[in-house]
Amino acid sequence: MHLHKYEKVWLAFGMASLIIFLLVIGFAAFWKGTHPQSHLETIDQNNVEAHDSFKPENLGLTEVADGKYKVNMVASAFNYDFGVDKDEKPVKTIRVPQGSTVLFTITSKDVVHGFQVAGTNVNMMVEPGHISRYEAVMKNKGEFTIVCNEYCGIGHHQMFGKVEVY
Ligand code: CUA
Repeated sequence: MHLHKYEKVWLAFGMASLIIFLLVIGFAAFWKGTHPQSHLETIDQNNVEAHDSFKPENLGLTEVADGKYKVNMVASAFNYDFGVDKDEKPVKTIRVPQGSTVLFTITSKDVVHGFQVAGTNVNMMVEPGHISRYEAVMKNKGEFTIVCNEYCGIGHHQMFGKVEVY
């Protein structure tokens, strides 16, 4: 079989690039310890209440320091559980002052869900068996809709909530 000179050059270029890319991935994963964030913390999806962050009394918004908040949530088909208010009604809106730092911690009881606060850069995949965290500074005032952006079943469009920055 005869290969044209340019064909050989491009084949060599293609193979060399592939080897370089694989080396870069290998270096990042094995020497630098770069892994998907969700790999860091695992949880038993059938017993999320055993984890401190997801005990029913710890769900929802808590102020941890001046201007610092945390929000613990459990996603399941087809709801975000932010805990209950003082009248035992499910919380659907998280209210924080402008400029505050909010750490969102979420896990799933069943299937893969999404957690996006539209209009901010809070956007996570929520996987059963894993804990997802994202810390964000709420720079802008307004109402931001929380949406599930991973198709999770027939009630996917019913999974929503709201973050109000005042
Ligand atoms: Cu949950 Cu889509």
